[in-house]
Amino acid sequence: MSEELIPETPEQETEENEAAEPIKQRKNGLYPGVSDELAENMKSGWADTELHGLEPIAQAAHTAARRAALSARFPGERLVIPAGNLKTRSNDTEYAFRASTEYAYLTGDQTQDGVLVLEPAGDSGHRATIYLLPRSNRENGEFWLDGQGELWVGRRHSLAEAEQLLGIPAKDVREIAAALAEASGPVRNVRGHDAAIEAALTDKVTAERDEELRVYLSEARLVKDAFEIAELQKACDATARGFEDVVRSLDKAEATSERFIEGTFFLRARIEGNDIGYGSICAAGPHATTLHWVRNDGAVRAGELLLLDAGVETNDLYTADVTRTLPINGTFSPLQRTIYDAVYEAQEAGIAAVKPGASFRDFHDASQRVLAEKLVEWGLLGDLSVDKVLELGLQRRWTLHGTGHMLGMDVHDCAVARTEAYVDGVLEPGVCLTVEPGLYFQADDLTVPEEYRGIGVRIEDDILVTEDGNRNLSDKLPRRADEVEAWMAQLKG
Ligand code: GLY
Ligand code: MN
Ligand code: MN
Repeated sequence: MSEELIPETPEQETEENEAAEPIKQRKNGLYPGVSDELAENMKSGWADTELHGLEPIAQAAHTAARRAALSARFPGERLVIPAGNLKTRSNDTEYAFRASTEYAYLTGDQTQDGVLVLEPAGDSGHRATIYLLPRSNRENGEFWLDGQGELWVGRRHSLAEAEQLLGIPAKDVREIAAALAEASGPVRNVRGHDAAIEAALTDKVTAERDEELRVYLSEARLVKDAFEIAELQKACDATARGFEDVVRSLDKAEATSERFIEGTFFLRARIEGNDIGYGSICAAGPHATTLHWVRNDGAVRAGELLLLDAGVETNDLYTADVTRTLPINGTFSPLQRTIYDAVYEAQEAGIAAVKPGASFRDFHDASQRVLAEKLVEWGLLGDLSVDKVLELGLQRRWTLHGTGHMLGMDVHDCAVARTEAYVDGVLEPGVCLTVEPGLYFQADDLTVPEEYRGIGVRIEDDILVTEDGNRNLSDKLPRRADEVEAWMAQLKG
């Protein structure tokens, strides 16, 4: 941060309180210490940088089709979909901005404070407008004196440029409150992203109707279009390279901690994508039995396993979600391998159950059955039959979680879809989900032999349902134990 860039003037030096006040609170007004001469000077002498003839973004045709489907679902209603706002991290610094999934899905844009409005337009459906902050005004000093001025935060697209890129007419976001206040007729808003928009609409919307919009937008994303599938493939490919980076740097992780693994993967995510799609789980040794181990501050020891669950999020916000469980020294011990092979077999059975026409629950059931068989075979469930174990759900002491979930812009995508559309739904081409069985023996689990305790294994891949079965988008990473060992040996050199 460069608060020092605030222009120095004699007045500032004498008015200490004024000088200390963050410039960000001085929206749309001249900084008091600015002389008339400096203010005049800063107005001019700037080149016209307007861009002309811009090509639409790669997904423009897809976002138009998504808006058309949304329009058809809610005829005659005004629909308001905000990107969300910056969130304070501390004092005057903010977290990195990540646009709301709904907004990015419908526009391809990721600008903070942006709002998409679909306004009813009679028989032709809806008229879309995207509300954005335009280029900074140089006449009133906003350009260099406002916290969101382009001198501080960088050049934005002009509204005309945004229109060309997104294929959506653009207006100044500072007009939206008035536009919504004047709006008549039914309105729905995606809640949870922009408190100011919600405040402007309190008298016009209901929670129930807003929720229907959110549910629709969750279910619309169940089947991915061609752009989305390509993005998910890109995310998986970058993720595979991130896993390779981690294997290459395992000796450095051993010398430091799980943090080295987290940082190594994050570097790949930032080089090839926007971010990680969720907090990386870099779980060495017994931490692998903690499902959401994101503290990543533990030791990395030869002879133990590393469970790495991580995904690169692409620049258009599609994330992979991949797990590999790796022997830190490059070779599974006999017991590690037995447990690993069981999870691998369960994953194979799960992946085989992913196909058009199958129910969403089938791959979970297939994986759970294999895991229950193994647990019975190892004598961990007494004399019970596999069927009885499954009926009572006793395997869950060690399998812990569901075998997978939808994947897309959100790692747990389509999360507010109705049960009948998702959990009780039927798979069709274009659905993308994870298959991620695991076995976890807690370090303090007295019901298993001592040598099992502290071992956790998960294998997770991203599977696209195709016309004739499925495609493993993350198959650039090996899964079978011997292939994992060979791959690690090659990378470790
Ligand atoms: N990384 C979270 C999950 O696997 O669902
Ligand atoms: Mn995962
Ligand atoms: Mn997952």
